[in-house]
Amino acid sequence: MKIDLFMTPGELPPSYAKGRRLVLVDVLRACTSLTVALASGAERIVPAESVEGAKRLLALLDRESTLLAGEQDGSKLPGFDLGNSPGDFRSPRVDGKTVVFTSTNAAPLMARMVDEVEKPLLSFVNMKSVVDYLRAVEKAEVSIVCAGQSGHFSLEDAVCGGMLCARLLEKGNYECNDGARAALVLYESFRADLPGLLAGCSHGRFLRELGLEEDLREAAALDSLTLVPVVRESRVTVLRPPWS
Ligand code: MLT
Repeated sequence: MKIDLFMTPGELPPSYAKGRRLVLVDVLRACTSLTVALASGAERIVPAESVEGAKRLLALLDRESTLLAGEQDGSKLPGFDLGNSPGDFRSPRVDGKTVVFTSTNAAPLMARMVDEVEKPLLSFVNMKSVVDYLRAVEKAEVSIVCAGQSGHFSLEDAVCGGMLCARLLEKGNYECNDGARAALVLYESFRADLPGLLAGCSHGRFLRELGLEEDLREAAALDSLTLVPVVRESRVTVLRPPWS
């Protein structure tokens, strides 16, 4: 069995994703926030590559049952119903709704990469669920891609990917690529203090400057939600146990 981890989407070899299940990691904040949205009863998430793309999608949908959400430069956009804070999605407002969602890094990846069978979304809040789900459905190989930040490495995504590798290795023998091995080392360095990791990493510091400390606390809540958001054909819906 194999684990391949890529620290940024740009590292994925051409055609690698075709036909695979590819775990997408974006701790701050998209994967955390969309997991909260689905836990709060959102029917589905429709990711959009851009703010304009999100507005175009919204125009095609029933406004009564659709919310427009996301961020640009970390902040909620004018005219949007919600930003990209986990707390925005922990609300009865999202129950039963379709959420059109745009963000800097993760939403374009969800919308653009369509060759995979599916993309489970991973963050610290649903780590145990993703581990259980992968153990149930993925026998041969696990492929993980970190969303990163504007094409660059993100420490928090690497540590989260490393935690997934560590938990899978507890109950299976996997051959790890160099990305997975490096992520395991980073996870060992930071595992004792996830809040400290998120407060100190570049994107965490950026969010703190925006006054979004609460988002960091929510993102550090390990194993607090029992579900797996999964992107299939550019739509995110929820999987819950039993996984297979
Ligand atoms: C993203 O998808 O780019 C992130 O969620 C950015 C953010 O923290 O809002």
